[in-house]
Amino acid sequence: MPRTAFLSTGFHVPSRLVTNDDLAQMMDTSDEWIVQRSGIKTRYWVDKGDTGVGLARVASEKAIAKAGLEAKDIDCIIYCTCTPDHFEPGNGVFLQRELGLTDIPAVDVRNQCSGFIYGLSIADAWIRVGQYKRILLVGAEVHSRGLDKTTRGRDTAVLFGDGAGAAVLGPISEDGRGVLSTHIFADGRYAEKLWVDGPGLAHDPFVSVSMLEQGVHRPVMEGREVFKFASTKMPESVAIALKSNRLSPTDVTLLVPHQANLRIIEMVQKAAGLRDDQVYINIQKYGNTTAASIPIALDEALAEGRLRTGDVLVLTAFGSGFTWGSAAIRW
Ligand code: UT7
Repeated sequence: MPRTAFLSTGFHVPSRLVTNDDLAQMMDTSDEWIVQRSGIKTRYWVDKGDTGVGLARVASEKAIAKAGLEAKDIDCIIYCTCTPDHFEPGNGVFLQRELGLTDIPAVDVRNQCSGFIYGLSIADAWIRVGQYKRILLVGAEVHSRGLDKTTRGRDTAVLFGDGAGAAVLGPISEDGRGVLSTHIFADGRYAEKLWVDGPGLAHDPFVSVSMLEQGVHRPVMEGREVFKFASTKMPESVAIALKSNRLSPTDVTLLVPHQANLRIIEMVQKAAGLRDDQVYINIQKYGNTTAASIPIALDEALAEGRLRTGDVLVLTAFGSGFTWGSAAIRW
């Protein structure tokens, strides 16, 4: 049975750079607080006219071109986002249309920060059984329009950024290369610890002026709870990835963790027993781009020459749901 290889990656962020000082103009916060608590210095936000699918299209086109392919070679799209352009249908079909494709499946994955690893797990299963041969896996988010940019929402508004990352995945039958394992987890008991309550069909009416006045359409988070779980579940999932492949921390060339908070990443690194050079960090530039953070970081790491054929790459993520997971890949 073949394994799943990353044939290429690509990413795209919108052009509007937002600094911590810019945020301090909108709400009661400071560069010092944001850097100290999260490590984030800048993030990119969409401008008028930009959409999540628009960002995803550019990232996808870059990845498809880098793989030496054309859009028509893609036989399945898996689109991971928690910030869709519309309630219905999902972003997958809009991206399909933007790429000029018809008659291939477009799957929408709703697993927030863990979306890319969930999507990879699905893609890997399909590729190994031969169902699809060129899967476009996308993580893309537009957070900025949904954030509460007043002091009330400052604990979340300063963390999130917009962006898109994409990978083209295909089968490989060479020297044990490819995706070695994926492990995905969820615990819905914590669903409301980081969520957007409405508009939603659990409400009747599903949207109302009073809901909007209360701000239920803004993400809210119990930051400390999320922090506590993220800093235990991510290292746990790394340990599972290593154990199930009989690898030790010294075998890992690079860990690309979901970029949620520099302090969380440092705790993951320590708990996983990894050196600084084994962990890729770019949160300072982009903030938390949720499902896009791993493919953006992976594309940057590759551009910097951080992975060579045969190296061991480990991915890990944690986010709303709670959901979390890991993947081990022999590059
Ligand atoms: O992918 C998963 C997505 N989410 C995460 O990963 C987030 C995980 N959580 C975190 O990263 C951290 O909990 C935060 C960075 C969100 C917050 O850091 P913290 O050290 O847990 O701070 P806190 O929530 O306990 O708040 C400390 C203080 C509070 O003031 P008082 O009550 O001590 O006077 C907050 O009101 O900081 C205040 N605060 C702020 N101050 C300036 C909260 N947000 C801000 C802000 N600027 N943006």
